[in-house]
Amino acid sequence: MNKLRIGICGWGNVATGLFKTLQTNAGEIKKRSNLEIEIIAIGARRDNPKCDPGNIIIERDIFKIIDYDIDVVVELIGGVDVARDLIIKSLNAKKHVVTANKAVIFNHGDELLSIANKNGVNLLYESSVCAGTPIIKLLKQELAASKISKISGMLNGTSNYILSNMEEGMEFESTLKLAQEKGYAEPDPTFDIEGTDAAHKIGILSSLAFGSSLPPKDFYIKGINEIHKDDFKYAHEMGYTIKHLAIAKLTNNSIDLRAHPSLVKLDSYLASLKGVRNGIEVETDLLGTLHIAGSGAGQEATASGVISDLIYLSDSKIQKVNNNNESSGLINFIDLDFQYYFYIEASDLSGVMASISSIFANKDVSIESISQKENLNNDLVPIIIITDPFKEKDHQELVDKLLDLDSVNKIRSIRIEPQ
Ligand SMILES: NC(=O)c1ccc[n+]([C@@H]2O[C@H](COP(=O)([O-])OP(=O)(O)OC[C@H]3O[C@@H](n4cnc5c(N)ncnc54)[C@H](OP(=O)(O)O)[C@@H]3O)[C@@H](O)[C@H]2O)c1
Repeated sequence: MNKLRIGICGWGNVATGLFKTLQTNAGEIKKRSNLEIEIIAIGARRDNPKCDPGNIIIERDIFKIIDYDIDVVVELIGGVDVARDLIIKSLNAKKHVVTANKAVIFNHGDELLSIANKNGVNLLYESSVCAGTPIIKLLKQELAASKISKISGMLNGTSNYILSNMEEGMEFESTLKLAQEKGYAEPDPTFDIEGTDAAHKIGILSSLAFGSSLPPKDFYIKGINEIHKDDFKYAHEMGYTIKHLAIAKLTNNSIDLRAHPSLVKLDSYLASLKGVRNGIEVETDLLGTLHIAGSGAGQEATASGVISDLIYLSDSKIQKVNNNNESSGLINFIDLDFQYYFYIEASDLSGVMASISSIFANKDVSIESISQKENLNNDLVPIIIITDPFKEKDHQELVDKLLDLDSVNKIRSIRIEPQ
C-alpha cells in the first residue's frame, strides 16, 4: 500500500469537500489505487463551522504547513499573490504541490512549473480547469501521442447556465439572479459573465496542448452580458444557438486563442450541453474528435480532481515531468476571419434594407442571408444578417458605419464558430 502525507492550506468549500471525500471514499481510493492518503495538518485562519477536523492539527498560519513532515502541500486558498508565495515556498522546500487555483496557474504557471522542475518536485493542477472533469491529464498523458489541432468548449458553468435559460426565453438579469440564488454564480459574478474565468481556463489548456506561455500574451476575451434573449430566437430560425466558447486552435504553428460568445450549429455536440455543465471538444489526428463533459464546479467535483492528482503523485512508476513550454506565438485576433450574425434594429422605412446592404458591400463584406423580422412596437424593425467570413479588423468600422445611418437604432453582432 502506498502512503501519501498531505497538508491542506485553506479551509473553505473545496478543502471541506476534499476532507469529507477522503473520509467517505477512503476505501474506494485504497481499493482502486492502492493508496492511503493521510491529512497531517490544515492551514486555516479560522474554524470551519461546516466541518469538524477531529484530531487533525490546525495551523492558523498557512505557511507553517510547509514545515510538517508531509509529501504534498494542497493549496486551496485561491487568489494570486499569497498563493504564488505559498506554492514557491512549498516547491523550494521540496514538497509537491497540488492546487485547484486557475488564477495562479494562469498568471504564474511558467514561473511555478520551472521552480518545480528545478526542485525535482511536481506542481499538479487538474482541478484548475473544469474542477474534476478530467482534461489536464487527458492532454498531458492520454493524448500525448496525438497532435491536437483545436480545443473548444464551454468552460464556465455560470455562463452556460445563464445562456441555457435565455435560450428558453428568460431575460439575462433574471437568470443571473436565479443563478446566484442557486449558488451557481458568485455574489460578484463579474469574472464569470465577463469571460475572465473561461479565458483563464483556455489559457491553461492552450499551454498544455500548444505550448503557449503562462500568462499568455493578450488575447480576445468577451463575456455574455450583451446577448439578448431574442438573439436565440433568430439564431434558432437559422439552425444555430449561442454558447460562450473558449477556443485554442493551432493554425500554421501559431495559436488562435480567444473566449467569446459564438453561434454554433443546433445539432452540434456543444449545443446539446445545457445548464451548469462544462463541455469540451478536443480535435486530434489519431482519435478524431473527443467529447468531454462534466461538472465544472462544486466541492465534490473539485475534490475529485485534487485526489486524482494525489493518486498520480503516489504512483512511483510514472516518471513525472512538469511541462516545459516551448512558446508558440498567438495570432493577432484582428487578423482572423469570422462569419458574423448581425442584429440591426432599424426604422421601418422603405430603402433602409438597401442602405444597410450597401454599407456591407462598400466594405467588401458579402451577405449570406438577410431577413426583415416582425415589427417591434415602436416602428422599429429587426433585420438579421449572416455574413460570409471577413477580417476581424473590419468589424468595428463596419458597425460604426452602420450606426452612422440615421435609420439604424441598435446593433448586436456575434461571431459564428465553424464546426
Ligand atoms: N468552489 C469550486 O467549485 C471550485 C472549483 C474549481 C476550482 N476552485 C478553486 O479552488 C480554490 C478554493 O476555492 P474555494 O471555493 O474553496 O474557496 P473558499 O471557499 O473561499 O475558501 C478559501 C479558503 O482559503 C482561505 N484563505 C484565503 N486567502 C487566505 C490567506 N491569504 N491566508 C490564509 N487563508 C486564506 C479562506 O479563509 P477565510 O475563510 O478566512 O477567508 C478559506 O478558508 C480556488 O482557487 C478556486 O478557484 C474552486
